[in-house]
This record gives sequence, C-alpha cells and structure tokens, in this order.
Amino acid sequence: MIAIGCDHGGYELKLAVESNLKEQGVDFIDCGCGGEKVDYPDIAVKVCEEITSGECDKGILICGTGIGMSMCANKIAGIRAAVCGDTFSAKYTRLHNDANVLCMGGRVIGAGLALEIVREFLNNEFEGGRHVARLDKMKNLEGK
Ligand code: RB5
Repeated sequence: MIAIGCDHGGYELKLAVESNLKEQGVDFIDCGCGGEKVDYPDIAVKVCEEITSGECDKGILICGTGIGMSMCANKIAGIRAAVCGDTFSAKYTRLHNDANVLCMGGRVIGAGLALEIVREFLNNEFEGGRHVARLDKMKNLEGK
C-alpha cells in the first residue's frame, strides 16, 4: 500500500500519478490535498504517519519543488525521503538508501518523467549488504 499526498503546488501532478497507479492496480491512500491551498508540513506528516504506523510501506509526496515535503518527512523517525527529478536517482535511492518516501516537484518536472520516476521507485528493492551499516548510522542521527 502506498500513501500519497500533495500541496496545491503538486496537485496536478498527484492526479497524474494516482491515475497511473490505478491503471497499474497499485493500491494507495490519498492523504490530501484536494487542490486547495494547504501547508505542506501538514500533508507530509499525514503520509509519513501511514508509513510509521505500518499501514503503508512507501509514500509519495508532491509539492512545488519536492523540497519542503522532503525536509518535513526527513524529520520523522523511520522516514527516509528522497527528492528525485530523474530515474537514476529514483532507482538508486531504493537500492542504496532504502528510501521509503519519494518526493517530487510538480512545478519542476512533467507528468511523463514523474511516472517513470515513480516506476523506478516502486519497482526496485533495497540491496542490503554494505548499505545496511550506513543506514544504521543514518538511523543514529535521528533526534540529534
Ligand atoms: C507552495 O507555494 C510551495 O512553497 C511548496 O509547494 C513547495 O515548493 C515547498 O517546498
């Protein structure tokens, strides 16, 4: 299950992503917004809570740049959020960082590229191995 959310800067792109997820039969929970002006931290926390509660295993957050959403998400223990504007980063943030939240900028990239980025993010698995100790060190940074 995927949790997905956006602010007003990411609303159009969220609709495109959701439509594509439906076509692929991927289940998701929409955490808002519905196009109205909202503060992105409020949406980021909703999506991340779906993950930390165990309801969802991954999340997608879309704002104007993806940056504000990622900053908020990365303050929450257990969340590893990555802003991606290319498919290589989307693939490797799964393989190496075990990212559980993908952030994108609705004012930065078009829907065509965004759907490819989402595909890489959802269809690649963490490699483990040498990356595990690095993630342990990352975990130890939480709360510092
Ligand atoms: C909203 O205008 C905009 O600041 C927001 O969508 C995002 O880009 C923040 O990082």
